[in-house]
Amino acid sequence: MAIDTSCDETSAAVTDEALVLSNVISSQINIHQKYGGVFPALAKRAHEERIDLVVREALGGAKRNMQAGQNGLRLASCVLPLSAVAVTYGPGLAIALEVGIKKAKELLRGSDPVKGQTLSVPLIAINHLEGHIYSCLAQNLAGKPTREILFPALCLIVSGGHTELILMKNHGEYQLLGETLDDACGEALDKAAKILKLGYPGGPIIERLAESLPKNPKFAFQRNSAKQAIQNSKFALNQPLREKNNLNFSYSGLKTQFLYLTQKMSEKELGQNLAELASVFQQAAFEQLLRKTAKTIELYGPKTLVCGGGVMANQCLKRLLRKLAKENDLPVFFPPNKKLTTDNAAMIGVAAYFKYQRGEFVKNPEALDRQPRLSL
Ligand code: KG4
Ligand code: ZN
Repeated sequence: MAIDTSCDETSAAVTDEALVLSNVISSQINIHQKYGGVFPALAKRAHEERIDLVVREALGGAKRNMQAGQNGLRLASCVLPLSAVAVTYGPGLAIALEVGIKKAKELLRGSDPVKGQTLSVPLIAINHLEGHIYSCLAQNLAGKPTREILFPALCLIVSGGHTELILMKNHGEYQLLGETLDDACGEALDKAAKILKLGYPGGPIIERLAESLPKNPKFAFQRNSAKQAIQNSKFALNQPLREKNNLNFSYSGLKTQFLYLTQKMSEKELGQNLAELASVFQQAAFEQLLRKTAKTIELYGPKTLVCGGGVMANQCLKRLLRKLAKENDLPVFFPPNKKLTTDNAAMIGVAAYFKYQRGEFVKNPEALDRQPRLSL
């Protein structure tokens, strides 16, 4: 049983090795929408209200799937009660993380919703970013896809809270190579959407608008000519951190440029140019991801490219990264479906399986505390 309450999704999942038996996500988008971002105290309250139901549904869903026995032997060998409890302990919102950790401890103590059952199973503490990496290995009930990460692997994690390039030397061995110096890429997309008064979360809205542009070759976004494509538009944005070997990211400058650009426009002009503005911002946000990832591949020669985090739901970004991987003869993995892309507990369960194999358990479960600034 895995739990994630790191931000604004309350999620619980049951996994067997990398196989996802259930993955229940209760989204708080409607609660935070009017604030244009996550409101921590409301997130905590919503997690508290929903966590029991979400855990119960995850257990129920897993049982149903096991009974259905869609892949016979494999599911029959998976046993409930559980063999371990896994929980995200950071990074994330402190008061949100606390809710999941408390629930994990309750499960171990055997209190509701696993009635009357005392679990003498280990607790596994998972870094949320490790979860996003392992989301790529999650399998459906038919055991698909079967993937193997070849090491060293380069992991690009792009979400509302993170923009990171991580070298994965083996399972559980990480080296941070680059990260955002200010805002995360998803956060920047959310802010751009807010500037355009489009709602929250902004990433998917920006994507839809950008895709709605007529397929004008002038705007066709190619990695090698991204700078040019951005400057072809009448709304040019300057790209940050162009120094050669700098693997870090920066998004606050782009956001400020975008704010100034739009402030100079009338409501009417804004309305008429909405799709192009969205497209230019998205291109600028992704150009940086592509440029830094290409540089890192050149410097470190990884054998697999692993992509994770909410922004990887974006089809344009996926196309560009696939192309980059192909040019470098690299296998590239994305989370197999959208539910595994944005925050979810199944990815925490898959990451936990690899820790389980190594016997990496929390020594004193009652003492496990949240680490909002945890890094890999
Ligand atoms: O991984 P995630 O669910 O939560 C964090 O750990 O932050 O990522 C959420 C982020 C938000 O910023 C959202 O705007 C972005 O992922 N996102 C997208 C898309 N879907 C979600 N960004 C671009 N295109 C999308 N289709
Ligand atoms: Zn996340």
